[in-house]
Amino acid sequence: MEIRLDPLFLMGCDSPVSADFHARPLRSLRISVTDRCNLRCGYCMPEKEYVWLPKSDLLDFDEITRLTRVFASLGVSRLRLTGGEPLLRRGLPTLIRQLKGIEGISDLALTTNALLLADAAESLLEAGLSRLTVSLDSLDPATYERLAGQPRLDQALAGIAAARALGFPVKLNTVVLAGENDHEVPALLDYARSVGAELRLIEYMDVGGATRWTMNAVVERAAILERIVASHGPLEAESGRGSAPAERFRLADGTRFGVIASTTAPFCGSCDRARVTADGKLFLCLYAREGHDLRTILRSGDDEALRAAVAGIWGARTDRGAEERLALGRRTPLALAGELREDPHLEMHTRGG
Ligand code: GTP
Ligand code: 5AD
Ligand code: SF4
Repeated sequence: MEIRLDPLFLMGCDSPVSADFHARPLRSLRISVTDRCNLRCGYCMPEKEYVWLPKSDLLDFDEITRLTRVFASLGVSRLRLTGGEPLLRRGLPTLIRQLKGIEGISDLALTTNALLLADAAESLLEAGLSRLTVSLDSLDPATYERLAGQPRLDQALAGIAAARALGFPVKLNTVVLAGENDHEVPALLDYARSVGAELRLIEYMDVGGATRWTMNAVVERAAILERIVASHGPLEAESGRGSAPAERFRLADGTRFGVIASTTAPFCGSCDRARVTADGKLFLCLYAREGHDLRTILRSGDDEALRAAVAGIWGARTDRGAEERLALGRRTPLALAGELREDPHLEMHTRGG
């Protein structure tokens, strides 16, 4: 692997935070623990068949822990475990316990579809997980089944209820799809409020995996907000977004929600994220074509070699994927089904969202 150390990184060498070419600090790491999923959401896994990562390629818990320690030493304080569906990875609480102990990691979150959450919530809490983000796109059983490919709405809601009953902070992620679930935005907002969760409404993105994406299916930020004003009255924008993808708003009754406008209003300029696939490939941008193999270094080198490699990769980072997509004007899906079969690392369920 080519390792380039650029001046910006070297300047920041003594500081715990590495900065890339655009002076973006490395603060947030997202680790996919499996590429498998027990749902088939149409914006993520619309195809009939998938090429899976070989099980023998997956990083084990000790490797993930070493990797996280190295990222923490470079400035990462926020860690998110993703999938596929991360609760499909056997023994996840053991991994969480290991990660929780790492110096510098102050926030340990998990993205899940909640199907397995009712049974898992207690052990996740005991292991030290800080919070949960649940993907939920509909409250109507038929729509849920159509969008997610399985009739499992009740199971997801039971998972959310179990997590909230234990006191887990929960965010709900809804990808808003024109003519599919956009009319449900007000009901989802009411539901989120009723369970004490924060709803985030996400624009449909033209990422890898989204082979059916068209701009016509995207509900833009402005349309999402208009719908909410019509149903719930005036809202106020909150300040202090920092590097977060979500712009936050407040209703008159104090209810907060977020809008993630990755498609029409990208936030690449403040992106502080790195993502690692379950087989140890490092991707910086969600839209990146190429990753960097960390598994080979993990298995052959010491932690210092790994640290130098990650620092070099981050220091040389120049990508601004979502902004480049926006600048294209006429947009089509990022990858064709054939390309995804050739390289499953392009898939959103492999790089974790
Ligand atoms: P918090 O840690 O709770 O703040 O989570 P988050 O706001 O970072 O969001 P989450 O991890 O739940 O991601 C929500 C959605 O934001 C994803 O499903 C993507 O649609 C989008 N998103 C996340 N990371 C990126 C990114 O690096 N670039 C872009 N363009 N979109 C992203
Ligand atoms: N557009 C927007 N978000 C997506 N996700 C997956 N695919 C897409 C897409 N095409 C996100 C959703 C989901 C999470 C696991 O990944 O937010 O909740
Ligand atoms: Fe599975 Fe999440 Fe993709 Fe849906 S969005 S298919 S729940 S990985």
